[in-house]
Amino acid sequence: MSTTSISPSIKGALSALASKDLHSGIKHKFATDPSRIDKFTHDLGEFYLDLSKTHISDELVSKYIEFAQEVRFESKRFDFLAGAKINNSESRSVLHTLLRDSSNQGISMVEPDSLKQAATSKQQFIEQYQAIQTKLASRNVPVADIIHVGIGGSSLGTQLVFEALKELNASIKVHFIGNIDAHQLVDVLSQCRAESTLVVGVSKTFTTAETLQNLDSIANWFRSSGDSEPLSKFYGVTAAPTKAIDYGIYSENVVSFPNWVGGRYSVWSSVSLSAALVIGIDRFNELLDGAAELDKHFYQQPLKSNVCFLAAMLDHYYGNFLEVKSRAIFAYDFRLRSLVDYLQQLETESNGKDRQRDGTPVDQQTSPVVWGGVGTDVQHSVFQMLHQGTAMIPSEFILVARSDHEMDDHHQELLANGLAQTAALLAGQDLETIERIHGAENLSDSTKHAKIFSGDRPSSTILLERLTPRALGGLLAFYEHRTFCFGVLTNINSYDQMGVELGKRLAKQVKPLLACDQKQKSVEEFDPSTLNLIARINKI
Ligand code: F6P
Repeated sequence: MSTTSISPSIKGALSALASKDLHSGIKHKFATDPSRIDKFTHDLGEFYLDLSKTHISDELVSKYIEFAQEVRFESKRFDFLAGAKINNSESRSVLHTLLRDSSNQGISMVEPDSLKQAATSKQQFIEQYQAIQTKLASRNVPVADIIHVGIGGSSLGTQLVFEALKELNASIKVHFIGNIDAHQLVDVLSQCRAESTLVVGVSKTFTTAETLQNLDSIANWFRSSGDSEPLSKFYGVTAAPTKAIDYGIYSENVVSFPNWVGGRYSVWSSVSLSAALVIGIDRFNELLDGAAELDKHFYQQPLKSNVCFLAAMLDHYYGNFLEVKSRAIFAYDFRLRSLVDYLQQLETESNGKDRQRDGTPVDQQTSPVVWGGVGTDVQHSVFQMLHQGTAMIPSEFILVARSDHEMDDHHQELLANGLAQTAALLAGQDLETIERIHGAENLSDSTKHAKIFSGDRPSSTILLERLTPRALGGLLAFYEHRTFCFGVLTNINSYDQMGVELGKRLAKQVKPLLACDQKQKSVEEFDPSTLNLIARINKI
Protein backbone atom coordinates (compact mmCIF):
# COMPACT_ATOMS: atom_id res chain seq x y z
CA MET A 1 0.00 0.00 0.00
CA SER A 2 1.38 3.38 -0.93
CA THR A 3 1.56 5.92 1.89
CA THR A 4 0.96 9.19 0.09
CA SER A 5 2.41 11.90 2.26
CA ILE A 6 0.50 14.85 0.87
CA SER A 7 -3.26 15.02 1.24
CA PRO A 8 -5.57 16.15 -1.58
CA SER A 9 -6.69 19.19 0.40
CA ILE A 10 -3.14 20.51 1.02
CA LYS A 11 -2.16 19.60 -2.53
CA GLY A 12 -5.16 21.52 -3.87
CA ALA A 13 -4.41 24.59 -1.75
CA LEU A 14 -0.73 24.62 -2.72
CA SER A 15 -1.55 24.15 -6.41
CA ALA A 16 -3.94 27.12 -6.24
CA LEU A 17 -1.28 29.20 -4.52
CA ALA A 18 1.26 28.18 -7.16
CA SER A 19 -1.03 29.33 -10.01
CA LYS A 20 -1.47 32.65 -8.25
CA ASP A 21 2.26 32.95 -7.62
CA LEU A 22 3.12 32.22 -11.23
CA HIS A 23 0.70 34.83 -12.38
CA SER A 24 1.57 37.62 -9.96
CA GLY A 25 5.28 37.02 -9.24
CA ILE A 26 7.65 38.13 -6.51
CA LYS A 27 7.82 41.85 -7.31
CA HIS A 28 4.10 42.01 -6.67
CA LYS A 29 4.68 40.50 -3.23
CA PHE A 30 7.11 43.30 -2.36
CA ALA A 31 4.69 45.89 -3.70
CA THR A 32 1.80 44.60 -1.62
CA ASP A 33 3.54 43.72 1.64
CA PRO A 34 5.79 46.38 3.20
CA SER A 35 6.75 44.05 6.04
CA ARG A 36 8.23 41.43 3.74
CA ILE A 37 11.82 42.05 4.89
CA ASP A 38 10.87 41.78 8.56
CA LYS A 39 8.92 38.61 7.98
CA PHE A 40 11.17 36.71 5.64
CA THR A 41 14.69 37.49 6.79
CA HIS A 42 16.26 35.60 9.69
CA ASP A 43 19.09 36.87 11.83
CA LEU A 44 20.99 34.08 13.57
CA GLY A 45 24.04 36.12 14.51
CA GLU A 46 26.86 35.23 12.15
CA PHE A 47 24.37 33.59 9.78
CA TYR A 48 21.72 35.76 8.13
CA LEU A 49 19.17 34.37 5.70
CA ASP A 50 17.09 36.47 3.33
CA LEU A 51 14.22 34.53 1.73
CA SER A 52 12.27 37.64 0.75
CA LYS A 53 13.21 37.39 -2.95
CA THR A 54 11.56 33.96 -3.22
CA HIS A 55 7.88 33.04 -3.53
CA ILE A 56 7.56 32.72 0.24
CA SER A 57 4.38 34.20 1.73
CA ASP A 58 2.36 33.96 4.95
CA GLU A 59 -0.10 31.71 3.17
CA LEU A 60 2.62 29.39 1.92
CA VAL A 61 4.19 29.07 5.36
CA SER A 62 0.88 28.34 7.05
CA LYS A 63 -0.07 25.71 4.44
CA TYR A 64 3.28 24.01 4.90
CA ILE A 65 2.85 24.03 8.66
CA GLU A 66 -0.41 22.14 8.10
CA PHE A 67 1.44 19.82 5.74
CA ALA A 68 4.12 19.31 8.40
CA GLN A 69 1.42 18.32 10.86
CA GLU A 70 0.04 15.80 8.39
CA VAL A 71 3.45 14.18 7.92
CA ARG A 72 4.06 14.27 11.71
CA PHE A 73 7.10 16.44 11.29
CA GLU A 74 7.58 17.19 15.00
CA SER A 75 7.51 13.55 15.94
CA LYS A 76 10.01 12.72 13.18
CA ARG A 77 12.34 15.44 14.42
CA PHE A 78 11.91 13.96 17.90
CA ASP A 79 12.79 10.50 16.56
CA PHE A 80 15.97 11.94 15.04
CA LEU A 81 16.94 13.58 18.35
CA ALA A 82 16.04 10.49 20.34
CA GLY A 83 18.36 8.34 18.24
CA ALA A 84 15.57 6.23 16.71
CA LYS A 85 16.63 4.16 13.70
CA ILE A 86 15.42 6.72 11.18
CA ASN A 87 17.63 5.12 8.53
CA ASN A 88 15.08 2.31 8.40
CA SER A 89 16.42 0.45 5.35
CA GLU A 90 19.75 -0.10 7.12
CA SER A 91 18.28 -0.11 10.61
CA ARG A 92 20.59 2.65 11.84
CA SER A 93 20.32 5.76 13.98
CA VAL A 94 21.64 9.05 12.66
CA LEU A 95 23.77 10.51 15.41
CA HIS A 96 26.51 12.60 13.83
CA THR A 97 25.14 15.73 15.53
CA LEU A 98 26.34 14.29 18.86
CA LEU A 99 29.91 14.92 17.74
CA ARG A 100 29.28 18.66 17.87
CA ASP A 101 27.17 18.75 21.01
CA SER A 102 30.21 19.37 23.21
CA SER A 103 28.38 21.48 25.76
CA ASN A 104 25.77 18.73 25.93
CA GLN A 105 22.95 21.17 25.45
CA GLY A 106 20.57 18.60 26.78
CA ILE A 107 18.78 18.50 23.46
CA SER A 108 19.82 15.05 22.38
CA MET A 109 17.76 12.37 24.03
CA VAL A 110 19.78 9.40 22.88
CA GLU A 111 20.84 6.54 25.09
CA PRO A 112 23.74 7.37 27.43
CA ASP A 113 25.82 4.79 25.54
CA SER A 114 25.80 6.79 22.32
CA LEU A 115 26.54 10.00 24.19
CA LYS A 116 29.49 8.29 25.83
CA GLN A 117 30.70 6.94 22.49
CA ALA A 118 30.47 10.41 20.97
CA ALA A 119 32.43 11.98 23.84
CA THR A 120 35.05 9.21 23.73
CA SER A 121 35.43 9.46 19.99
CA LYS A 122 35.90 13.23 20.21
CA GLN A 123 38.42 12.91 23.01
CA GLN A 124 40.31 10.18 21.16
CA PHE A 125 40.48 12.32 18.07
CA ILE A 126 41.90 15.24 20.04
CA GLU A 127 44.49 12.99 21.69
CA GLN A 128 45.48 11.35 18.41
CA TYR A 129 45.64 14.74 16.74
CA GLN A 130 48.01 15.93 19.47
CA ALA A 131 50.13 12.79 19.24
CA ILE A 132 50.44 13.20 15.46
CA GLN A 133 51.36 16.88 15.84
CA THR A 134 54.07 15.94 18.36
CA LYS A 135 55.40 13.29 16.01
CA LEU A 136 55.39 15.74 13.12
CA ALA A 137 57.21 18.35 15.17
CA SER A 138 60.03 15.89 15.94
CA ARG A 139 60.71 14.97 12.32
CA ASN A 140 64.02 15.88 10.72
CA VAL A 141 62.29 16.83 7.51
CA PRO A 142 59.09 18.78 8.15
CA VAL A 143 55.91 17.67 6.39
CA ALA A 144 55.22 19.84 3.37
CA ASP A 145 52.47 17.78 1.73
CA ILE A 146 49.61 15.67 3.00
CA ILE A 147 47.90 13.39 0.50
CA HIS A 148 44.35 12.83 1.67
CA VAL A 149 42.98 9.72 -0.03
CA GLY A 150 39.23 9.24 0.20
CA ILE A 151 36.13 9.66 -1.91
CA GLY A 152 32.63 11.11 -1.49
CA GLY A 153 31.88 11.77 2.16
CA SER A 154 35.39 10.69 3.04
CA SER A 155 36.82 13.68 1.25
CA LEU A 156 34.37 16.38 0.14
CA GLY A 157 33.77 17.90 3.59
CA THR A 158 37.43 17.76 4.58
CA GLN A 159 38.44 19.49 1.38
CA LEU A 160 35.83 22.19 1.88
CA VAL A 161 36.93 22.81 5.49
CA PHE A 162 40.60 22.87 4.48
CA GLU A 163 40.07 25.33 1.64
CA ALA A 164 37.67 27.54 3.57
CA LEU A 165 39.62 27.82 6.82
CA LYS A 166 43.32 27.45 6.04
CA GLU A 167 45.54 30.49 6.33
CA LEU A 168 46.14 31.93 2.88
CA ASN A 169 49.87 31.15 3.21
CA ALA A 170 49.60 27.79 5.04
CA SER A 171 52.92 25.94 4.99
CA ILE A 172 51.40 22.47 4.50
CA LYS A 173 49.60 21.65 1.28
CA VAL A 174 46.81 19.07 1.38
CA HIS A 175 46.12 17.24 -1.88
CA PHE A 176 42.82 15.42 -2.18
CA ILE A 177 42.80 12.20 -4.16
CA GLY A 178 39.42 10.57 -4.61
CA ASN A 179 39.07 9.61 -8.21
CA ILE A 180 40.60 6.40 -9.55
CA ASP A 181 41.74 8.36 -12.60
CA ALA A 182 45.50 8.39 -12.11
CA HIS A 183 45.94 11.57 -14.16
CA GLN A 184 45.22 13.36 -10.89
CA LEU A 185 47.39 11.09 -8.76
CA VAL A 186 50.38 11.27 -11.11
CA ASP A 187 50.10 15.05 -11.12
CA VAL A 188 49.96 15.25 -7.30
CA LEU A 189 52.86 12.83 -6.83
CA SER A 190 54.96 14.92 -9.18
CA GLN A 191 54.52 17.83 -6.77
CA CYS A 192 55.53 15.88 -3.63
CA ARG A 193 58.75 14.51 -2.19
CA ALA A 194 58.52 11.20 -0.34
CA GLU A 195 60.59 12.40 2.64
CA SER A 196 58.21 15.30 3.38
CA THR A 197 54.88 13.65 2.52
CA LEU A 198 52.27 12.17 4.84
CA VAL A 199 49.33 10.08 3.67
CA VAL A 200 45.91 10.08 5.30
CA GLY A 201 43.66 7.33 3.92
CA VAL A 202 40.03 7.90 4.82
CA SER A 203 37.28 5.38 4.31
CA LYS A 204 34.37 4.62 6.59
CA THR A 205 34.30 1.02 5.39
CA PHE A 206 37.95 0.72 4.32
CA THR A 207 36.72 -1.37 1.41
CA THR A 208 36.17 1.35 -1.22
CA ALA A 209 37.94 0.22 -4.38
CA GLU A 210 39.21 3.63 -5.50
CA THR A 211 40.65 4.47 -2.09
CA LEU A 212 42.47 1.16 -1.66
CA GLN A 213 43.93 1.24 -5.16
CA ASN A 214 45.09 4.83 -4.75
CA LEU A 215 46.72 3.96 -1.41
CA ASP A 216 48.49 0.99 -3.04
CA SER A 217 49.85 3.18 -5.80
CA ILE A 218 51.05 5.82 -3.34
CA ALA A 219 52.80 3.13 -1.27
CA ASN A 220 54.55 1.97 -4.46
CA TRP A 221 55.60 5.53 -5.20
CA PHE A 222 57.22 5.73 -1.73
CA ARG A 223 59.01 2.43 -2.41
CA SER A 224 60.25 3.59 -5.77
CA SER A 225 61.58 6.72 -4.03
CA GLY A 226 63.72 4.49 -1.81
CA ASP A 227 61.42 4.27 1.23
CA SER A 228 61.27 0.66 2.38
CA GLU A 229 58.65 1.36 5.04
CA PRO A 230 56.01 3.49 3.34
CA LEU A 231 53.15 2.45 5.58
CA SER A 232 54.79 4.14 8.55
CA LYS A 233 53.78 7.41 6.86
CA PHE A 234 50.18 6.28 6.38
CA TYR A 235 47.32 7.12 8.73
CA GLY A 236 43.99 5.36 8.32
CA VAL A 237 40.75 7.09 9.36
CA THR A 238 37.83 4.70 9.48
CA ALA A 239 34.82 3.25 11.26
CA ALA A 240 36.22 -0.23 10.50
CA PRO A 241 39.62 -0.29 12.26
CA THR A 242 40.22 -4.01 11.71
CA LYS A 243 39.79 -3.54 7.96
CA ALA A 244 42.36 -0.73 8.01
CA ILE A 245 44.79 -2.91 9.98
CA ASP A 246 44.16 -5.83 7.58
CA TYR A 247 45.04 -3.44 4.77
CA GLY A 248 48.38 -2.75 6.44
CA ILE A 249 47.86 0.50 8.36
CA TYR A 250 49.87 0.29 11.61
CA SER A 251 47.44 -0.06 14.50
CA GLU A 252 48.89 3.03 16.23
CA ASN A 253 48.14 5.00 13.06
CA VAL A 254 44.45 4.07 12.92
CA VAL A 255 42.11 6.90 13.86
CA SER A 256 38.59 5.59 14.24
CA PHE A 257 35.13 7.15 14.37
CA PRO A 258 31.77 5.62 15.32
CA ASN A 259 29.85 3.59 12.78
CA TRP A 260 26.74 5.72 13.30
CA VAL A 261 28.39 8.63 11.52
CA GLY A 262 27.14 8.53 7.91
CA GLY A 263 29.72 9.14 5.15
CA ARG A 264 28.25 12.43 3.90
CA TYR A 265 27.72 13.58 7.49
CA SER A 266 31.23 12.75 8.65
CA VAL A 267 33.00 16.10 8.29
CA TRP A 268 32.47 16.58 12.06
CA SER A 269 34.56 13.51 12.90
CA SER A 270 38.18 12.44 12.56
CA VAL A 271 37.48 12.23 8.81
CA SER A 272 38.61 15.88 8.91
CA LEU A 273 42.06 14.94 10.29
CA SER A 274 44.03 16.36 7.37
CA ALA A 275 42.15 19.67 7.49
CA ALA A 276 42.55 19.82 11.29
CA LEU A 277 46.31 19.25 10.99
CA VAL A 278 46.51 22.46 8.97
CA ILE A 279 43.86 24.70 10.54
CA GLY A 280 44.50 23.51 14.13
CA ILE A 281 42.26 21.62 16.50
CA ASP A 282 40.94 24.79 18.16
CA ARG A 283 39.53 26.10 14.93
CA PHE A 284 38.15 22.65 14.16
CA ASN A 285 36.34 22.70 17.52
CA GLU A 286 34.95 26.15 16.71
CA LEU A 287 33.53 24.64 13.52
CA LEU A 288 31.71 22.09 15.70
CA ASP A 289 30.47 24.84 18.03
CA GLY A 290 29.05 26.81 15.12
CA ALA A 291 27.19 23.73 13.92
CA ALA A 292 25.88 23.06 17.45
CA GLU A 293 24.41 26.55 17.58
CA LEU A 294 22.53 25.96 14.36
CA ASP A 295 21.43 22.56 15.70
CA LYS A 296 19.87 24.32 18.66
CA HIS A 297 17.97 26.62 16.34
CA PHE A 298 16.72 23.69 14.28
CA TYR A 299 15.64 21.67 17.30
CA GLN A 300 13.97 24.50 19.20
CA GLN A 301 12.56 27.07 16.80
CA PRO A 302 8.94 26.77 15.80
CA LEU A 303 8.55 25.87 12.16
CA LYS A 304 7.39 29.32 11.07
CA SER A 305 10.79 30.79 11.97
CA ASN A 306 12.93 27.69 11.56
CA VAL A 307 15.40 28.46 8.77
CA CYS A 308 16.03 24.79 7.94
CA PHE A 309 12.34 24.02 7.62
CA LEU A 310 11.58 27.18 5.62
CA ALA A 311 14.36 26.49 3.13
CA ALA A 312 13.22 22.87 2.70
CA MET A 313 9.65 24.06 2.34
CA LEU A 314 10.67 26.27 -0.58
CA ASP A 315 12.65 23.41 -2.16
CA HIS A 316 9.53 21.26 -1.91
CA TYR A 317 7.17 23.95 -3.18
CA TYR A 318 9.34 24.79 -6.17
CA GLY A 319 9.84 21.15 -7.13
CA ASN A 320 6.30 19.97 -6.64
CA PHE A 321 4.15 22.97 -7.51
CA LEU A 322 6.19 25.26 -9.74
CA GLU A 323 7.81 22.54 -11.87
CA VAL A 324 11.30 23.50 -10.89
CA LYS A 325 13.90 20.82 -11.57
CA SER A 326 17.10 22.33 -10.27
CA ARG A 327 18.51 24.69 -7.69
CA ALA A 328 21.72 26.66 -8.12
CA ILE A 329 24.14 27.70 -5.40
CA PHE A 330 26.62 30.50 -5.94
CA ALA A 331 29.26 31.18 -3.32
CA TYR A 332 30.74 34.65 -3.68
CA ASP A 333 33.90 33.57 -1.93
CA PHE A 334 36.66 31.59 -3.61
CA ARG A 335 37.38 29.77 -0.35
CA LEU A 336 33.97 28.10 -0.71
CA ARG A 337 34.75 26.76 -4.18
CA SER A 338 34.15 23.16 -3.04
CA LEU A 339 30.82 23.92 -1.39
CA VAL A 340 28.73 22.92 -4.40
CA ASP A 341 30.48 19.54 -4.70
CA TYR A 342 29.89 18.96 -1.00
CA LEU A 343 26.22 19.94 -1.20
CA GLN A 344 25.66 17.88 -4.32
CA GLN A 345 26.57 14.78 -2.36
CA LEU A 346 24.74 15.89 0.78
CA GLU A 347 21.48 16.70 -0.95
CA THR A 348 21.32 14.40 -3.95
CA GLU A 349 22.74 11.29 -2.31
CA SER A 350 20.38 11.91 0.61
CA ASN A 351 17.23 12.87 -1.24
CA GLY A 352 17.59 11.64 -4.81
CA LYS A 353 15.22 8.74 -4.22
CA ASP A 354 12.17 7.30 -5.94
CA ARG A 355 10.93 5.16 -3.05
CA GLN A 356 9.09 6.16 0.08
CA ARG A 357 10.23 4.93 3.47
CA ASP A 358 8.05 1.84 3.15
CA GLY A 359 9.51 0.96 -0.25
CA THR A 360 6.54 2.04 -2.34
CA PRO A 361 7.09 4.47 -5.25
CA VAL A 362 7.26 8.10 -4.26
CA ASP A 363 4.52 10.34 -5.64
CA GLN A 364 6.36 13.64 -5.40
CA GLN A 365 9.45 15.21 -6.91
CA THR A 366 12.40 14.49 -4.65
CA SER A 367 15.85 16.10 -4.82
CA PRO A 368 16.29 18.78 -7.44
CA VAL A 369 19.51 18.81 -9.41
CA VAL A 370 21.88 20.82 -7.25
CA TRP A 371 24.53 22.73 -9.13
CA GLY A 372 26.34 26.03 -9.10
CA GLY A 373 29.74 27.60 -8.81
CA VAL A 374 31.70 30.55 -7.59
CA GLY A 375 30.96 34.21 -8.20
CA THR A 376 31.95 36.19 -10.16
CA ASP A 377 33.11 33.41 -12.56
CA VAL A 378 29.59 32.09 -12.98
CA GLN A 379 28.35 35.48 -14.15
CA HIS A 380 30.39 35.00 -17.30
CA SER A 381 29.10 31.51 -18.01
CA VAL A 382 25.76 30.25 -16.70
CA PHE A 383 24.04 33.46 -15.61
CA GLN A 384 22.68 34.13 -19.08
CA MET A 385 20.40 31.12 -18.57
CA LEU A 386 19.40 32.19 -15.07
CA HIS A 387 18.25 35.58 -16.30
CA GLN A 388 16.73 34.76 -19.65
CA GLY A 389 16.43 30.97 -19.96
CA THR A 390 13.01 29.36 -20.14
CA ALA A 391 13.35 27.40 -16.88
CA MET A 392 12.83 28.94 -13.47
CA ILE A 393 15.92 28.10 -11.39
CA PRO A 394 15.83 29.23 -7.77
CA SER A 395 19.30 30.36 -6.89
CA GLU A 396 21.10 30.78 -3.64
CA PHE A 397 23.78 33.40 -3.08
CA ILE A 398 26.29 33.04 -0.29
CA LEU A 399 27.97 36.33 0.50
CA VAL A 400 30.65 37.02 3.10
CA ALA A 401 30.53 40.61 4.32
CA ARG A 402 34.19 40.95 5.40
CA SER A 403 37.14 39.36 3.66
CA ASP A 404 40.37 38.07 5.19
CA HIS A 405 42.65 39.89 2.81
CA GLU A 406 43.55 43.53 2.52
CA MET A 407 42.41 44.18 -1.03
CA ASP A 408 39.21 45.89 0.00
CA ASP A 409 38.38 47.20 -3.44
CA HIS A 410 38.26 43.63 -4.77
CA HIS A 411 35.95 42.58 -1.99
CA GLN A 412 33.59 45.52 -2.49
CA GLU A 413 33.43 44.69 -6.18
CA LEU A 414 32.73 41.03 -5.40
CA LEU A 415 29.89 41.91 -3.00
CA ALA A 416 28.48 44.50 -5.37
CA ASN A 417 28.33 41.87 -8.11
CA GLY A 418 26.60 39.29 -5.93
CA LEU A 419 24.02 41.77 -4.70
CA ALA A 420 23.47 43.16 -8.19
CA GLN A 421 22.71 39.66 -9.50
CA THR A 422 20.03 39.05 -6.89
CA ALA A 423 18.52 42.46 -7.63
CA ALA A 424 18.58 41.84 -11.40
CA LEU A 425 16.97 38.41 -11.07
CA LEU A 426 14.09 40.02 -9.21
CA ALA A 427 13.70 43.26 -11.12
CA GLY A 428 14.25 42.17 -14.70
CA GLN A 429 14.12 44.80 -17.42
CA ASP A 430 11.08 45.77 -19.45
CA LEU A 431 10.77 47.29 -22.91
CA GLU A 432 10.06 50.74 -21.51
CA THR A 433 13.31 50.75 -19.55
CA ILE A 434 15.22 49.53 -22.59
CA GLU A 435 13.80 52.33 -24.70
CA ARG A 436 14.63 54.86 -22.03
CA ILE A 437 18.25 53.66 -21.66
CA HIS A 438 18.92 53.04 -25.35
CA GLY A 439 16.63 55.70 -26.80
CA ALA A 440 19.39 57.46 -28.69
CA GLU A 441 20.82 54.30 -30.23
CA ASN A 442 18.14 53.53 -32.76
CA LEU A 443 18.01 49.81 -31.87
CA SER A 444 16.02 47.39 -34.01
CA ASP A 445 12.93 45.80 -32.47
CA SER A 446 14.61 42.41 -32.33
CA THR A 447 17.58 43.85 -30.44
CA LYS A 448 15.27 45.61 -28.01
CA HIS A 449 13.33 42.40 -27.37
CA ALA A 450 16.53 40.42 -26.88
CA LYS A 451 17.32 42.79 -24.02
CA ILE A 452 14.11 42.03 -22.11
CA PHE A 453 14.51 40.23 -18.78
CA SER A 454 11.29 38.94 -17.29
CA GLY A 455 12.55 39.28 -13.69
CA ASP A 456 10.62 37.63 -10.86
CA ARG A 457 13.25 34.90 -10.73
CA PRO A 458 13.62 33.61 -7.18
CA SER A 459 16.82 33.90 -5.21
CA SER A 460 17.74 33.62 -1.57
CA THR A 461 20.79 35.10 0.10
CA ILE A 462 22.87 33.78 2.96
CA LEU A 463 25.04 36.48 4.43
CA LEU A 464 27.94 35.54 6.69
CA GLU A 465 29.77 38.27 8.57
CA ARG A 466 33.14 36.57 8.04
CA LEU A 467 34.14 33.12 6.94
CA THR A 468 35.00 31.93 10.46
CA PRO A 469 34.98 28.29 11.59
CA ARG A 470 31.77 28.99 13.53
CA ALA A 471 30.07 30.54 10.51
CA LEU A 472 31.08 27.62 8.29
CA GLY A 473 29.88 25.11 10.90
CA GLY A 474 26.51 26.86 11.06
CA LEU A 475 26.25 26.99 7.28
CA LEU A 476 26.89 23.25 6.87
CA ALA A 477 24.53 22.31 9.70
CA PHE A 478 21.84 24.46 8.08
CA TYR A 479 22.16 22.46 4.86
CA GLU A 480 22.16 19.15 6.75
CA HIS A 481 18.93 19.92 8.58
CA ARG A 482 17.33 21.34 5.48
CA THR A 483 18.08 17.99 3.84
CA PHE A 484 16.45 16.17 6.77
CA CYS A 485 13.33 18.40 6.55
CA PHE A 486 13.01 17.80 2.82
CA GLY A 487 13.23 14.04 3.40
CA VAL A 488 10.41 14.25 5.92
CA LEU A 489 8.20 16.29 3.56
CA THR A 490 8.74 13.81 0.73
CA ASN A 491 8.51 10.77 3.03
CA ILE A 492 11.84 9.27 2.00
CA ASN A 493 14.80 7.87 3.91
CA SER A 494 17.54 10.49 3.52
CA TYR A 495 20.21 8.32 5.10
CA ASP A 496 20.82 5.37 2.80
CA GLN A 497 22.36 5.40 -0.72
CA MET A 498 21.31 2.16 -2.39
CA GLY A 499 21.45 3.86 -5.79
CA VAL A 500 25.24 3.79 -5.84
CA GLU A 501 25.53 0.02 -5.54
CA LEU A 502 24.48 -1.33 -8.94
CA GLY A 503 27.12 0.58 -10.92
CA LYS A 504 29.84 -0.56 -8.50
CA ARG A 505 28.79 -4.20 -8.95
CA LEU A 506 28.68 -3.96 -12.73
CA ALA A 507 32.09 -2.22 -12.88
CA LYS A 508 33.59 -5.37 -11.34
CA GLN A 509 32.18 -7.37 -14.26
CA VAL A 510 33.10 -4.91 -17.00
CA LYS A 511 36.76 -4.72 -15.96
CA PRO A 512 37.74 -8.27 -17.01
CA LEU A 513 35.92 -7.77 -20.32
CA LEU A 514 38.05 -4.68 -20.94
CA ALA A 515 41.16 -6.72 -20.24
CA CYS A 516 40.09 -8.90 -23.17
CA ASP A 517 39.92 -11.87 -20.88
CA GLN A 518 37.88 -14.08 -23.19
CA LYS A 519 37.59 -16.81 -20.59
CA GLN A 520 36.00 -14.40 -18.17
CA LYS A 521 32.31 -14.63 -18.88
CA SER A 522 30.16 -11.71 -17.82
CA VAL A 523 27.69 -12.73 -15.14
CA GLU A 524 25.26 -10.01 -16.11
CA GLU A 525 23.83 -9.70 -19.59
CA PHE A 526 25.04 -6.32 -20.78
CA ASP A 527 23.05 -4.26 -23.24
CA PRO A 528 24.22 -4.03 -26.89
CA SER A 529 25.43 -0.45 -26.52
CA THR A 530 27.71 -1.26 -23.58
CA LEU A 531 29.02 -4.40 -25.32
CA ASN A 532 29.71 -2.41 -28.47
CA LEU A 533 31.64 0.24 -26.50
CA ILE A 534 33.69 -2.47 -24.75
CA ALA A 535 34.52 -4.08 -28.10
CA ARG A 536 35.49 -0.73 -29.58
CA ILE A 537 37.78 0.16 -26.67
CA ASN A 538 39.40 -3.26 -26.93
CA LYS A 539 40.17 -2.59 -30.60
CA ILE A 540 41.90 0.74 -29.92
O1 F6P B 1 29.65 5.40 -3.21
C1 F6P B 1 28.99 6.11 -2.23
C2 F6P B 1 29.69 6.10 -0.90
O2 F6P B 1 29.29 5.00 -0.18
C3 F6P B 1 29.42 7.39 -0.16
O3 F6P B 1 28.21 7.39 0.48
C4 F6P B 1 30.61 7.48 0.73
O4 F6P B 1 30.76 8.78 1.23
C5 F6P B 1 31.69 7.05 -0.22
O5 F6P B 1 31.09 6.05 -1.01
C6 F6P B 1 32.97 6.57 0.41
O6 F6P B 1 32.79 5.44 1.22
P1 F6P B 1 33.89 5.02 2.26
O7 F6P B 1 34.04 6.13 3.24
O8 F6P B 1 33.40 3.76 2.91
O9 F6P B 1 35.16 4.79 1.51
